[in-house]
Formats: sequence, C-alpha cells, structure tokens
Amino acid sequence: MRIDIITVLPDLIRSPFEASILKRAIAKGLVEVHMHNLRDYSTNKHKNVDDYQFGGGAGMVMSIEPIDACISKLKSERNYDEVIYMTPDGETLNQQMANSLSLLGNIIILCGHYKGVDQRVRDQFITKEISIGDYVLSGGELGAAVLCDAIIRLIPGVLSNETSALTDSFQDNLLSPPIYTRPAEYKGWKVPDVLLSGNFAEIEKWREDMAYEHTKTRRPDLLEE
Ligand code: ADE
Repeated sequence: MRIDIITVLPDLIRSPFEASILKRAIAKGLVEVHMHNLRDYSTNKHKNVDDYQFGGGAGMVMSIEPIDACISKLKSERNYDEVIYMTPDGETLNQQMANSLSLLGNIIILCGHYKGVDQRVRDQFITKEISIGDYVLSGGELGAAVLCDAIIRLIPGVLSNETSALTDSFQDNLLSPPIYTRPAEYKGWKVPDVLLSGNFAEIEKWREDMAYEHTKTRRPDLLEE
C-alpha cells in the first residue's frame, strides 16, 4: 500500500510514522508513506496556499491551485483508489471503514486547514471525506495520523501476531473483554480464577460473555447495529 499525505505542516505528522508498529511496517516495505508540503506547489512568491473567503467572513480558505497541482502530479505518476479529505463534516471513521481502506493499493490524504478547502477541491478531486469524531481539530494532520494508524495495523504482516487485530474492540461490533497479566494477585486484587484454570473452552466463553456485558454497558448502540 502507498499513502500520499498532502499537508501544510509535514513536521506535525511525521513522528507517528517514526516509531513502533508504523515504523516497522514501513521498514518491512508493507506500506510507503510520502509527505507532500502543499507550499511546494504554491506558485505565488510568498508560498501562500490560502486566501480570503468570497462573500466575506472570518477565516482563510485553502486555495484550489496548489492542491490541484499536487494531486494532478501524483495522479500522473500512478492510479489512486481514493482521494480522502480529512474534515470534521466527513463520514465518521469506524473499524469497518479502516478494514476496507486497508485493502486498497494507493490513497491520497489531504489535510484541511484554516476554514477548510475551496468547495471545488471537494467537488472535483475528493472521493471520500473522513472525520475522526465530532470535535474540531486545528487541522487534518492528527486525523490523518489516526486514520493511517487504524489502516496500517490491519495490513497483513504488520502485526507480529496476525490474530491480534481480529480480537480488537469493534472487530465484531463488540468491545474487548478485560485482560490481565502477572502477578495473579496484587495487594489482594485477584485475577479471575477462570483465566488461571487452563480450561480454554471456559476461558473463551468467559471472554465472550465479558465482551458482551462490557458492550451492553458502555456501547449498547453497537449491539443494535
Ligand atoms: N479536521 C478538523 N477536525 C477534524 C476532525 N474531527 N476529523 C478529521 N479532520 C479534521
């Protein structure tokens, strides 16, 4: 998979790809991540990428020209499956979306800034708009990092124990059951006996029951889906 990220703040989004699972995925060649500084595509002498809103109003708008230049250059080099725009009014990211995006070959992610992008960018170039939740961030970069993490860890070979992504919360519309490690007792606080029993059928049943109870209490909406 190849991910091209278009941003005015490449430094803000580099570090998530330089540690742990994402770093290893890149090192193994399972994913390529390329940052593109939108200012490099600005043709005006101040390297501006934004302008005032037509009709008046507070806040600057990201201009179409540098975005068109950057996306068109990328598209001339290879085909893309999706051109994603990170925006609070996009479709809310969930595990099903991450699952399907992780199957794609090449994607572009455009990070919004200021008031957002000129609507013509959305109309002409964007194939999918994604929000990471009902709150407003200062820009799309952190959202793009969240999206990339959610996608990349699902690419086969990225997680060392491939089954561990399958038992994540949300994979079956269920939250994860509680987990424990040693010591079996700490300050009188005990790990549930069943987990120490060695009876794997019982353990599996306990985990399923707990996942269901946990979901019913915290996220009953998931059980209705
Ligand atoms: N940009 C600003 N807020 C955002 C959000 N909630 N999700 C994605 N991109 C954003």
